[in-house]
Amino acid sequence: MADFEIFVYYISMNKKVLLTGDRPTGPLHIGHLFGSLLSRKELESEYESYVMVADIQALTDNFEHPDKIRENVYEITADNLAIGLNPEKTTFFIQSQIPHIAELTVFYSNLVTINTLKRNPTVKAEVAQKTELFGKEGESLTYGFLGYPVSQAADITIVRASIVPVGEEQLPMIEQTREIVEKFHRVYKCAIFPIPQGKLSKGSRIMGLDGNAKMSKSLNNAIYLKDSPEETIVKIKTAKTDSESTVGFDPKKRPEISNLVLIFSLIYNIDPKEAVKELGKINYSAFKLKLAEDLNNYLAPIREKRKDLKPEYIREVLESGRKKVLIKAEETMSLVRKAMKIDY
Ligand code: TRP
Repeated sequence: MADFEIFVYYISMNKKVLLTGDRPTGPLHIGHLFGSLLSRKELESEYESYVMVADIQALTDNFEHPDKIRENVYEITADNLAIGLNPEKTTFFIQSQIPHIAELTVFYSNLVTINTLKRNPTVKAEVAQKTELFGKEGESLTYGFLGYPVSQAADITIVRASIVPVGEEQLPMIEQTREIVEKFHRVYKCAIFPIPQGKLSKGSRIMGLDGNAKMSKSLNNAIYLKDSPEETIVKIKTAKTDSESTVGFDPKKRPEISNLVLIFSLIYNIDPKEAVKELGKINYSAFKLKLAEDLNNYLAPIREKRKDLKPEYIREVLESGRKKVLIKAEETMSLVRKAMKIDY
C-alpha cells in the first residue's frame, strides 16, 4: 500500500461509529425527513454509519401485526435510500437478523431494575397512552415492551456506537444505555464500549396537519415521502388552521398555521420569520396551494428515486448490511462473553 492509502485506511479505521434506528410501523413522513433523515445524510461520511430497521422493537407493541411490520421494513429502507443515503457509506440492517442483539439484551437485563424501566420518561408516556387505549397498566404492559430500552441499549452497543442521532423524546433511551454500559464496565471490570452520546438533529419538529403535537401514521395526519403529489395537495388543503386571514408565525398562539409556515421554511432552509416576510400578505388558501406545490417540487427527486428502487436492490442492500454487522457483532460478543466469564 502507498503511504497515502495507508493513511486513508488508518483514518477510516478510526472513524467513530454512528448508529440510529427506525421502527418499521409505517412509511416515513416529512417530519422524519426534516427531523432526522437529512442530518443522517450529512453525517454518513464523517462516521462509520449504521441504520438499523428495528423490527423486533416494533413488534414489542405490534406483535399481533407481523405483516404490517414486515412490509414496512422494506418501505422505510426505501425511504432512507430515496433521500440519498449511500449504502457504501451507511450500512443498513434488520435488527432481527443479528441474533447477537437478542443475546446481549438478555445479559443486560440483569443490570436494569423494573423500577428504572417504569420511570423511563419515554416508556412512561407510551404506557400512559396504552393504558388509555387498553385499560389497566398491569394487564396491557408486556415484559417485552417494558424491556425495550434494554434491547435498544443492545442495538447501540452491538456495533460499539458512540454517536446516536435521535429525536428529543429518545434521549432517555440513550441515558439508559449509558447507565447499562457504565454498570457493565463496573461489574465486569472491563471497558469494552464507548459511552454513547445522543445527537439531536438541528431540524425543527413538525406537528401533525390536524394540530396534534406529533406527525404520526397512527394519527393519520402526516405527509409521507411516498405520497403522490395529488395526495399531498389534498392533505395540505385540508390541514387545520385558525380563523385569522393572513399567514403568520406564532407557534404558541397560532400553532397550526405556524406549523405550515415552518414546513415552508424548511423547504427553503430559511428562518420561519423570514418566510412570513417573503410570503407577504397572502391568504390561507393561496398559501396552502403554494406550499403544496413547493413541497411537491422539493419532494419530486426523492419520490422519483423511490419509484426506481427495485425490491431486489433493497434486499441486496439489507443482505450485505447483515453480513457486515454480523462480523462486528461477533467481535463485540466475544469481548462481552470473555468479560462475563462465559467464554467456554
Ligand atoms: N426507539 C427508536 C424510535 O422509536 C428506534 C430505535 C430502535 C433506535 N433502536 C434504536 C434509535 C437504536 C436509535 C438507536 O424511533
